[in-house]
Amino acid sequence: MSATGELRADHDQVRRLQIITEKCADKISKGSNIPFSDIEKITLIIYEFVDAIHHSREEDSYFPCVASYDTLKEEIRKFMIEHEFGRNIAREISKHLQRWKKGEDAREPVSRFLRTYSVYLFDHLNKENQFFDQAEADVLSPEEEKEMYEQYRSVIAITKKKEDMIKEIDYLESQPWFQF
Ligand SMILES: [Fe+2]
Ligand SMILES: [Fe+2]
Repeated sequence: MSATGELRADHDQVRRLQIITEKCADKISKGSNIPFSDIEKITLIIYEFVDAIHHSREEDSYFPCVASYDTLKEEIRKFMIEHEFGRNIAREISKHLQRWKKGEDAREPVSRFLRTYSVYLFDHLNKENQFFDQAEADVLSPEEEKEMYEQYRSVIAITKKKEDMIKEIDYLESQPWFQF
């Protein structure tokens, strides 16, 4: 396995989250009652998996390694800005969800920010997948791919956390509001 392969595998899971988020936004805007705990699971996966694991892998090692070749720097700069944009949207989802839980009618902003997050993810993943193809084919050495992969896999707590998050994704996909 390679670092690029591992990040692509992360993207496969994030793509599942993107579809869940889109569906959730849609159902909320149509008036369905989705349990607050399910919406909280979405934000949990965003914080603990997308941000804490996947974006860290990109920002702390993969992007710096690619940038060390003095290439694709503009793309990387944009991706970092997009990550920050994603974090801001996630904060809005949480904020309005808390208001809604306290009895205020926050159905519209929760739905809107979930949809915004889904659109952000869709676009970001597509662009990054192309970037991975380029980095893999033209930039990174096999040694670097292997070293970063091993680094990604070396922290047992993170591997375990990713597995837990995938179980949460499985759970959300099995809920009636997702399936029908
Ligand atoms: Fe990213
Ligand atoms: Fe990514």
